[in-house]
Order: sequence, then structure tokens, then C-alpha cells
Amino acid sequence: MTRNPATFALRGAVCFSTDPQHLTCLEDAYLVCQNGLTVGVYPQLPEQFRGIPCEDFNNCLIVPGMNDLHLHAPQYAFHGMYMDLELLEWLNTVTFPEEARYADLNYAEKAYSIFTDDIKHSATTRASIFGTLHVDATELLMDLMEKTGLKTFIGKVNMDRNGSLALQEASAVVSAKDTVRWLEETTGKYENVKPILTPRFTPSCSDELMTRLAEIQRTYRLPVQSHLSENQGEIAWVKELCQGTSFYGEAYDQFGLFGGEQCPTIMAHCVYSSDAELSLMKERGVFIAHCPQSNTNLSSGIAPTRRYIEEGLHIGLGTDIAGGHSLSMLRAIADAIQVSKLRWRLVDDSLKPLSLEEAFYMATMGGGAFFGKVGTFAEGYEFDALILDDSKLRHPQPLTARERLERLIYLSDDSCITGKYISGNKIF
Ligand code: GUN
Ligand code: FE
Repeated sequence: MTRNPATFALRGAVCFSTDPQHLTCLEDAYLVCQNGLTVGVYPQLPEQFRGIPCEDFNNCLIVPGMNDLHLHAPQYAFHGMYMDLELLEWLNTVTFPEEARYADLNYAEKAYSIFTDDIKHSATTRASIFGTLHVDATELLMDLMEKTGLKTFIGKVNMDRNGSLALQEASAVVSAKDTVRWLEETTGKYENVKPILTPRFTPSCSDELMTRLAEIQRTYRLPVQSHLSENQGEIAWVKELCQGTSFYGEAYDQFGLFGGEQCPTIMAHCVYSSDAELSLMKERGVFIAHCPQSNTNLSSGIAPTRRYIEEGLHIGLGTDIAGGHSLSMLRAIADAIQVSKLRWRLVDDSLKPLSLEEAFYMATMGGGAFFGKVGTFAEGYEFDALILDDSKLRHPQPLTARERLERLIYLSDDSCITGKYISGNKIF
């Protein structure tokens, strides 16, 4: 879907970030959209816009759309189940067998229809999504996501080692060939969906496969997504597998798959990234997808998000379905704040917990930067907006817009979302 060429306004209580520390909240304001981009937010509709269509949302909250930097569409089928395992055992006993089901297109259609319907109605406007290693099922997922109007990166997963009989590509050559077929079959086919190169993580990808993927990345100029420094056992395993590297990130970087101008990259988790790893990520502009709920469910740990913000790293939030059990980015905001408080109290009292402002920024502007000028209502930004109806959450006292937003983040599931716009197009 291209940008909506119309000029129109929405009226409500408007909240948006301007930087990690500041939320701007207007109790009653007009948000103007032109050609799919934000023009501005005004307490009164300026003279030049008199007469444009204006939808009055009756004092509902209006906030920027949320950008989910990391989730696995095939895992939505088992979200909320099998939570008593750590990462590597969870992958082997639950996740790989579940993902193997997507060889069957009938199953994929059932599962992905549920996923796409639910994410369409969630707080998410843009996302970076893992499929499975199956080309046909991943194309089906792309077809279904295209129809939602959400703007997404979707990756066919690469894995040629340490999988299972049912979930592993036969060789690096087969994996690379399938990837090229997938790209040839989907390039230029969609307006809302773009491909992203998706080596699952280092233990799943041989050196030969990484070499081939790097060639494909350069030929097709693809962004990259993967996992990094999530779990202590995983990190020890990567050290064994990649004897010549001094930290996990180098296992990607040695193939040229770790950021830089020509290779926009998202790395999920970064719970245990070393100083050297972080400094390379900063140099290369690698985006961190912080996934607090997944890191809790899989007992992975707590990422030092305060440090990442202070050091100016790119950081956004991910639900990491189904390590995370909730598709709600509102919930991800609350989780990010809560785990940062536990880390501060129990692990390192030099890193202050995240504020509401900072976590909201991560969900909107922080992750949004991966998609372009996305995540706030400043002039020239993509007009991605959510209408949040909190009228069912009763209260006796008057509340400010900021108080209402905080309450919605903590109290609501995504059922409060009654409207969604992406690049000025009304999704529902
Ligand atoms: N590392 C490799 N694969 C996965 C996955 O599916 N989920 C998570 N959380 N970490 C991974
Ligand atoms: Fe993940």
C-alpha cells in the first residue's frame, strides 16, 4: 500500500515521544496527515486546514504505531505454552518440531491466518518477522501479511546444522538455492512486505552457508536479522563453534553480516553483549531488539537497556513470539520497565530502571528508525497512528493524557485499540 494521498485530521488526546526522555502529551489536539506523512499536531486546527475531513475520536488517546523488531510468526501457534525450559532445550524439544509442521501448507495456512488476523488488530504497525526455513510457507505468510496493510520485513529462515531431521536444510548449497528462489519469487511482488535475510543464529548456520548468505545479501541488498548473546549456554556453544572469534558478534561480522551502511541489521536480545561486541554494534549501527518477556520466560537474563540507551545504541522492543507469550507491544513496554527495575535492585544498582518515557520511546521511535522516518508525530514522519479507547477502564478521578497512557500500558490487552493508520491508510 502506498501512502494515502489525502489530507485529513484526527482529533483526540495525543501522546508521542520527541526523544528517549520526553513524551509530549496534548489533552485535546488535531493531528494532520498529508500524503501519508505527519504535518503536525495542533491544539486548534490551523486556518490553512479548515474544511479538511476531520475524524473526532471523542477524546480517545492517539499515539504513534508500535514497531515490533523481533518475532517468529510460526511460533504464534504455541504462544503461552511450554514455558518451563531454557533456550537450547526449548528450541530442540518444542520449537524445532513445531516449525517442522510448516512443511505442510495446509497447516501453514491455518496457523498463519490466525497470526496475521491477530497482529493486524494488535498495537503493531511495523514488524520484522521470522518465518521458517520453508520457502512455500514463508511466501504464504508474506501473501497474508501483505493483505493486513502492516509494513513488515519477513525472512525465510536459514539453518543447515544442529537442527533436527525434520527441520534442517540438506546443505549450505540447498539453503542458499532456496533463498534465491524465495527472493526471485517475491521480489517486487508486494507493497507492504519486504524480504530480510534470516540466518537463524550462529549454531544453526555453517561457515559455508554464512559465506553464501553474505553473497546473497550483497547481490539483493538485503537487511539482516538474527539472534545474539541471548543465553549463557548459547554463548559458550558459539565460542566452541567459532574458535577464531573473540566475541559472538564477530561470528556474524567475519562474513559481513553485522550492520554497516549496506547491511541494516537487527540482532535480537543482546542480554550478555561484551564491551567489544557493543562497540562494534555502535560503529555498525546494529539495532538491538530488546525482548524482555522472552528473556524472562526462557530464564535468559535481563539486558542492560539503560546502558544501551546511554551509549546511544539503536534499540527497540520485540515481543519475540513465542519465547515471549504476548503479541502486545503495550505489554512489552511494561515488561521492559519491570525487568529493568529487577535488574537495578538485584543485579547492578548503577543502572537506573527505565522510565515510561524511555520504554515508550523504544517501542515507537527506537524501533521505528529501522523502517525510516517512523515512530513519532514530527513533521515528515510516516503517519502511523493508533486510536486507544480506555473508556472501559473505569476510574473516579480526573486523569491527564499521560496518566491515561500509562494506565493503558499496564492495564490493557490490545482490545483497547479501536483504530489503526499506517502511512495515512486506515487499517481498521
Ligand atoms: N535463537 C535461535 N532461534 C531462536 C528462536 O526461535 N527464539 C529465540 N528466542 N531465540 C532463538
Ligand atoms: Fe527470537
